[in-house]
Order: sequence, then C-alpha cells, then structure tokens
Amino acid sequence: MKIKVINGPNINMIGIREPAIYGSRTYKDLIEFITKCANENIVDVDFFQSNSEGDIVTEIQSCYQTFDAIVINPAAYTHTSVAILDALKAVAIPAVEVHLSKVSEREAFRQLSYPGMYCEKTYVGYGFDGYKMAIEYLVEKYK
Ligand code: DQA
Repeated sequence: MKIKVINGPNINMIGIREPAIYGSRTYKDLIEFITKCANENIVDVDFFQSNSEGDIVTEIQSCYQTFDAIVINPAAYTHTSVAILDALKAVAIPAVEVHLSKVSEREAFRQLSYPGMYCEKTYVGYGFDGYKMAIEYLVEKYK
C-alpha cells in the first residue's frame, strides 16, 4: 500500500511557529515519526509539503493511479481551498484529513474545512499522533 502524506503552508515551520499551539517538534521530526509508523504498518509513504495551493493541487493530481490513499493537512488552505477539495474529488483516492491543533476550539474562521467535505475521516488536535491514526485507519480499511 502506498500513501502520500501532504502538508500545506507553514507546516515546514512547526517547531518555530507558535510553539504553544504546534509544539516544539520540527517538520523533520514529523517525517521521522510518520516514517516509523509507516514501517510498523508495512506501508510505503511519500511526503510532500508546499506553501503553494497550486502545487498541492498538482501533487494530488499526480497521485492518480499511483497512490492508494492520501493523508492531508492542508493547513490554512483547509479553510479556503475549493481547488484542493476538487482535486481530491477528481482523483477519487481515499483521503484522511489531519490537523495538529484542535481547530474545533479555535477561531470561527477555522471551523470550515473544504477538503474535509471529501475526506473520510478528520483527526484534530492529536498532534503528531493524528497522522499515525490516519495511517492506521487507512491500513485497517484498505490494505
Ligand atoms: C492546522 C490548522 C490550520 O487552521 C492552520 O492554518 C495551520 C495548521 C493544524 O495542523 O492544526 O496552519 O492545519
């Protein structure tokens, strides 16, 4: 099973950005954490991070017929991007949404998720563990 893990804008800045919200661990730590989890579940994992909406759309399109599932933290584009929602619908690959912080308890503008309208599941506020839960969900359902 091949899973693409996509992270949106400013996720490369975790460990530096707003540590009270996103913690002190870095994006490199996140990659290591997810890689370990993928190895434990015997799945192939490939990573993509971008600060650009169009590049995320292009990456989702490139998953068509090449990846079995997508784990996505669209970051700020969660709350604005119909284009990312449409890309997920276009490729029709099983997808799970993850947010490090508990967005449900944050500002009103974070309460709407466009990609979440396509994703099968959303894990919110579990930090790095949310990605693990997403991979385990996909393995359980599709492997
Ligand atoms: C985030 C939550 C978003 O609202 C925010 O814009 C982010 C990160 C999270 O992982 O908690 O950049 O997706």
